[in-house]
Amino acid sequence: FLADAESIQQRFHMNLLSPVRPADSNKGTFGHVLVAAGTRQMAGAGLMSAAAALKTGAGLVSWAMPERVLEAMLGKQPEIMLQGVADKDKGDWSATSAKDIAALLDGKQAGVIGPGMGRWKGDTDWLKHIWRQTACALILDADALNILAEAGIESFPEREGPVLLTPHPGEMARLTGKSVKEVQADRIEIAREFAVKHGVTLVLKGARTLTAAPNGNVTINTTGNPKMATGGTGDVLAGVIGSLTAQGMHAEQAAVCGVYLHGRAGDTVAGKRPESRSLTAWDIIETL
Ligand code: APR
Ligand code: MG
Repeated sequence: FLADAESIQQRFHMNLLSPVRPADSNKGTFGHVLVAAGTRQMAGAGLMSAAAALKTGAGLVSWAMPERVLEAMLGKQPEIMLQGVADKDKGDWSATSAKDIAALLDGKQAGVIGPGMGRWKGDTDWLKHIWRQTACALILDADALNILAEAGIESFPEREGPVLLTPHPGEMARLTGKSVKEVQADRIEIAREFAVKHGVTLVLKGARTLTAAPNGNVTINTTGNPKMATGGTGDVLAGVIGSLTAQGMHAEQAAVCGVYLHGRAGDTVAGKRPESRSLTAWDIIETL
């Protein structure tokens, strides 16, 4: 499987896999991503996912967030379409119906759900509704993974559209009921087993991020560096993968190439600023 997996990266590096932009294309050719993310305290997580999706080449990017948050986000990245959703003036997701989000996902090619979303009463049923009632690819990150972990992924039915999960080791521990130490001690087999058992594409983040596909393929990423260990870089990755998926890449390829690209952008920033000990998520967005 390693030779096979490496060839995905190699083909991407040689520009054989990245979505082509034919001369007669238009924005409709490159898909529409919906990002559902952010709360009043963590609005930046949504902004970073949406901006990363835009910079990675999606034709259109919409960002749904609680109404209370929207005003402050106006003009931060003018190409992103902002969609306020029901909010009892708290700037959180507790008043937003899953039906409304499912309706927004209609006609989109990919939905990125979870960065900086927080938790609220009834969120497991909320996520189940979206899982069942939508057909597009779903990229679940951060709090969407915590919701999934609490409900237990076994309680979610088989889904028509692809599911991509992007846990860091802590989120993976919650998804599997193992400790972080156990996850880190056997990353490849734990990721592979989870992806095969649940029919999802799983990105297990951290130094040497792994992508496990439902057929058992595991790809080890070679880009990225510890300067990227700062808040928000994971939100950027979710947006990158959502964007490549919306542009028509198959789930495994979108994940493998998205992880590669995200790490490569981090390496480019690090190379330009060898004296800096860290970089920011926005540095990665600017470099994508
Ligand atoms: N080497 C290479 N890449 C690294 C390294 C490293 N040493 N450390 C971190 N990274 C990369 C990871 O691979 C991943 O792509 O940085 C990213 C970090 O992602 P997250 O851990 O999800 O961090 P982030 O999303 O920014 O955290 C903000 O979201 O997921 C929640 O609980 C999390 O509260 C936290 C919040
Ligand atoms: Mg994260």
